[in-house]
Amino acid sequence: MKTWWKEAVVYQVYWRSFYDTNGDGFGDLEGVIAKLDYIKKLGVDVIWLNPCYESPDFDNGYDISDYYQIMDKAGNMATWERLLAEVHKRGMKLIMDLVLNHTSDQHPWFLESRSSKDNPKRDWYIWKDPKDAKEPNNWRSYFTPSVWEYDSTTEQYYMHSFAIQQPDLNWENEEVRQAIYQMMRFWLDKGIDGFRLDVINLLAKVKGFPDVENPQNINYLGNNPGIHEYLREMNREVLQHYDIMTVGEIPFVTPEDGVLYVGEDRNELHTLFHFEVADDMPTWDMTRFKEIQTRWYEGLKGRGTNSQFLNNHDHTRQVTRYGNDGKYRVESAKLLATMIHTLPGIPYVYQGEEIGMTGVRFPSIEDYNDIAMKNKYKEEVEKGRDPEEVFEDLLVLSRDNSRTPIQWNTGEQAGFTTGTPWIKVNPNYQEINVEAALAGPDSVFYYYQKLIRLRKENPVMIYGNYQDVSAGDEHVYAYTRTDQGVTWLVLLNHSDNESLFMIPEEVSTENAQLVLANYQDSSQQESLQKLTLRPHEARIYQV
Ligand code: GLC
Ligand code: CA
Repeated sequence: MKTWWKEAVVYQVYWRSFYDTNGDGFGDLEGVIAKLDYIKKLGVDVIWLNPCYESPDFDNGYDISDYYQIMDKAGNMATWERLLAEVHKRGMKLIMDLVLNHTSDQHPWFLESRSSKDNPKRDWYIWKDPKDAKEPNNWRSYFTPSVWEYDSTTEQYYMHSFAIQQPDLNWENEEVRQAIYQMMRFWLDKGIDGFRLDVINLLAKVKGFPDVENPQNINYLGNNPGIHEYLREMNREVLQHYDIMTVGEIPFVTPEDGVLYVGEDRNELHTLFHFEVADDMPTWDMTRFKEIQTRWYEGLKGRGTNSQFLNNHDHTRQVTRYGNDGKYRVESAKLLATMIHTLPGIPYVYQGEEIGMTGVRFPSIEDYNDIAMKNKYKEEVEKGRDPEEVFEDLLVLSRDNSRTPIQWNTGEQAGFTTGTPWIKVNPNYQEINVEAALAGPDSVFYYYQKLIRLRKENPVMIYGNYQDVSAGDEHVYAYTRTDQGVTWLVLLNHSDNESLFMIPEEVSTENAQLVLANYQDSSQQESLQKLTLRPHEARIYQV
């Protein structure tokens, strides 16, 4: 079935690093409003806004202390409402990032819950007695060695899948679920167009909370019995009553599990982020990437919709992590974009990606802010490891790689703020910035604009069947998309060297028309049967 959200391109706004309008060093909602025409120029349909609710900000807004308020750094409700109106005025949609697995430890619900064992909200969180005077079990959290934190007031432990400041809600409690649904309706009734649901497959916990054999592999935190009942109830009570888009952040899933969340007959969510690439493939591995794409395509085919992304606010910028951010930065950024926008699934653009922003390497741990990185650093150093070595290890995948401010121009602080930015600007802003991108017709920006426009004009990019025609090639990724008699052939040489590629005979290339290429001089006439692709060259043909 054709729907607007399958056809959409989503632009992710990590507002605190987007644009600061009052000089306090944090991007803000006013700054998003100020730059909406820039976002619109790219041609995207939907904006995903990272959490901007009231929060002590231990985990950059993912620790919410009031779901009904906007945090001061971001602005206030009136500004947020104006943002929504301005987004809609430009024909775009807005989806809000919502965290339902945990709240802040400063949320009034948790303050009540921890106050006494017989408080009515005690059961809203997960409390357990000590086991042999220690943690109730051996589970590890994302950010700390144990999911359990002892609370001396009531001599019990509470569970947190992330930081100590992020206690997990008890979804088994009916009142919790109803309070959440009511809050979701509050935002939907304001007219938003959907949600990105944070770690949504973590809501249900393993019954009985048993010890696990290998606590380091934390996949026991997700996909537990009961999760689909919660999501169906949420759908029934809330989601299905609105014309919206829902994308679940769903770690630890294979396509077999994934289809249970997004299958069109399931009445749960529309689409998902799986993490077989971003979490499980630390550096580029072509064979593995193809295998993942093909397996997910087959798994969801005709049943559900995938999402395509290589980076976001949690993952090092794609051109640095998976591409070439040196000599071939521009070609590589364009190749990765070509891939994400032509593979089956909804493409996401993480702010700054559209100008080919890169990861960063700050000199000291003091320059970093990411709670995941800082906690891990502390944990490893306390084990007695050499701090320099630990730092080196953590640099590469630090979430701050993608959280540095948007580089708007060559001015002070890259034009992001007139004050001191909450996190340092990447020093390469003199070369890489929006102003330069907008001034250069061959820039990464305009290439994204073309890709996005093509998607609007060519349903084959959205609904086309997919076939990998390059199996076995370690550098070239070639695939076709076919829809209603139209076939596109995508050729990607993900390599610093030239690659010779033979197009298999089953793809007829006689009347091939070049649709888009990332090298300016790619000519229409070449014979396609045997082609030498230049480093990081990307081409799309209609065949
Ligand atoms: C998600 C968010 C991440 C956050 C975590 C805990 O993975 O994307 O930024 O730290 O959930 O809420
Ligand atoms: Ca600000």
